[in-house]
Amino acid sequence: MINAGIIGASGYTGGELLRLLVMHPEVEISYVTSERYVGEYVHRLHPNLKGLLQMKFSSRKTVDLCNCDVIFTATPHGSSMSYVPDLIKECDIKVIDLSADFRLKNPEKYDEYYNRTHPNPQLLSEAVYGIAELHREDIKKARIVACPGCLAASATISLAPIFKELADHIDLKRVIVDSKIGSSAAGATPSTATHHPHRAGIVRPYKPTGHRHTAEIEQELQEVSGKPVEVFMTPHAVDIVRGILSTSHVFLDGEIEISDNEIWKIYRNFYRDEPFIRFIRDKKGLYRYPNPKNVIGTNYADIGFDIESKGIKRIVVFSAIDNLVKGAAGAAVQNLNLMFGIEETTALTFPGLHP
Ligand SMILES: NC(=O)c1ccc[n+]([C@@H]2O[C@H](COP(=O)([O-])OP(=O)(O)OC[C@H]3O[C@@H](n4cnc5c(N)ncnc54)[C@H](OP(=O)(O)O)[C@@H]3O)[C@@H](O)[C@H]2O)c1
Repeated sequence: MINAGIIGASGYTGGELLRLLVMHPEVEISYVTSERYVGEYVHRLHPNLKGLLQMKFSSRKTVDLCNCDVIFTATPHGSSMSYVPDLIKECDIKVIDLSADFRLKNPEKYDEYYNRTHPNPQLLSEAVYGIAELHREDIKKARIVACPGCLAASATISLAPIFKELADHIDLKRVIVDSKIGSSAAGATPSTATHHPHRAGIVRPYKPTGHRHTAEIEQELQEVSGKPVEVFMTPHAVDIVRGILSTSHVFLDGEIEISDNEIWKIYRNFYRDEPFIRFIRDKKGLYRYPNPKNVIGTNYADIGFDIESKGIKRIVVFSAIDNLVKGAAGAAVQNLNLMFGIEETTALTFPGLHP
């Protein structure tokens, strides 16, 4: 059995990790930490786990994390970077971080996007970016895996295939990502922006320029295409609890003639046999394109596209994920499975709800 500890287990991604791990046949949950809810039963914060997990929250400062084989850090950015370096020095332990603290390879990007100097830049080159579909072999050997931001995951997964195959024909300086995202992405601590009367019924742009996840998307698309890439992302808060739909606009040069079938082939070849990538494009019916509703609670990323062939040529790419699953805890469990040599889909194969 793998002994797992979850730091920040009272939050939304921590709760989602618990939902997945209680069903994992190879994992024993050793510690769940919360500083605010020490001594409280887990089901007081995560009522969906009542009867499934009879544990209380402990303080991170009082538990011996070295007893774990792996810890998941589900805390705000700026937290895990302060204790993970000592932890991996002192213990033979693997870390799966759900925050932004180890995602960016270039330490200067932390100054630029997070207004802080990374205290352990040497660990950034060691940490592996946790999109299994892009970094599977490195994840298997990793000591630290940095799970992607949820918006970054939705855009990167859906764009990587065409950036690999069509990089010479794409306007790499003008990639536009327009995302719609549910309220759970803001975490469990209430704020004015997430207060129900302010959040319900809205379609509200936020951080329309310079969003932090832009740095991750550029990093990954640059790696896959081998060329500098500039991404312009604008997220919108919409009236759902879970889910992201990212609509990306990729402009092609005037010379290239490319058909639907050729684009399909690019996606199929890139994601051949991937268990959590589904292609959604039908000629008729309601379900012609990806829709977050169909992936809620699941680890699937649903991808679709359309081509604008008149005037300026454009590929419109759609990507739907659950921000708390493929965008966070599901990706983390997929990475755990890879890091410990377990069948990659363990504890992750279930369909969503319908209707
Ligand atoms: N929500 C999403 O959709 C999503 C998706 C992908 C990635 N992420 C990332 O995952 C991380 C957790 O997100 P979340 O949505 O689960 O947040 P959350 O619901 O706010 O939970 C964060 C947890 O961290 C603990 N915490 C709060 N402030 C802390 C601090 N300064 N130092 C250490 N622990 C602290 C809290 O527990 P106690 O105060 O009780 O200890 C809480 O349980 C964040 O870095 C977030 O950016 C979130």
